[in-house]
Amino acid sequence: MLKVLEHPLITHKLTQMRKKETKTKDFRENLDEIGGLMAYEITRNLPVREVEIETPVTAMKTYELEKDIILVPILRAGLGMVGGISNLIPTVKVAHVGLYRDETTLQPHVYFEKYPVGIENAVVMIVDPMLATGGSANAAIDMVKKQGAKDIRLVCLVGAPEGVEAVEKAHPDVDIYLAALDEKLNDQGYIVPGLGDAGDRIFGTK
Ligand code: PRP
Ligand code: URA
Repeated sequence: MLKVLEHPLITHKLTQMRKKETKTKDFRENLDEIGGLMAYEITRNLPVREVEIETPVTAMKTYELEKDIILVPILRAGLGMVGGISNLIPTVKVAHVGLYRDETTLQPHVYFEKYPVGIENAVVMIVDPMLATGGSANAAIDMVKKQGAKDIRLVCLVGAPEGVEAVEKAHPDVDIYLAALDEKLNDQGYIVPGLGDAGDRIFGTK
């Protein structure tokens, strides 16, 4: 399932990020804020369990989150979404998956992975601002599945139709959430209109 999270605040902040003149500080802040806004929408259907508690006034039955939530940022650019989401869900555990896309072949290369315990029963949210060919997202999904993850959601800011199709084909069980579905990829595998190289814009590299 693909869900594009349309919300005026998300669109406004994404517009700031897309502008070529936007500097690192504003780019990072907007990404962080969009991460939080997206997380609010994505967590709407999280499983809950009934619990009995006592308020200062009386006993009551209510609900708590049933499962751990594990965030999996795809390094580097995915790190830019961790702060905003963990502000909203302070109990998240954070795995790390290090992948870079070869600039010529566009194939993903793994250079790091680290997971918290309990990934088999957790809600796993893979985060990365860009879903271009889908190679990196598919590699990250393969990696968390190998660790036993079953409930997996892919959360990206900007997606290309090619990337969405590739993930839907390889992992039809994974829900994809985007802030915007863009037009296409260009010859270098960049999303059009996109926002350029997310990692470079977050970290001030080139
Ligand atoms: C970017 C982006 C995704 C990937 C998307 O990362 O953050 O991880 O490319 O492209 P794909 O869908 O074609 O795989 P990059 O490899 O540039 O690494 P970085 O985050 O370290 O900049
Ligand atoms: N990675 C990026 O950072 N931007 C793109 O447009 C495509 C891949």
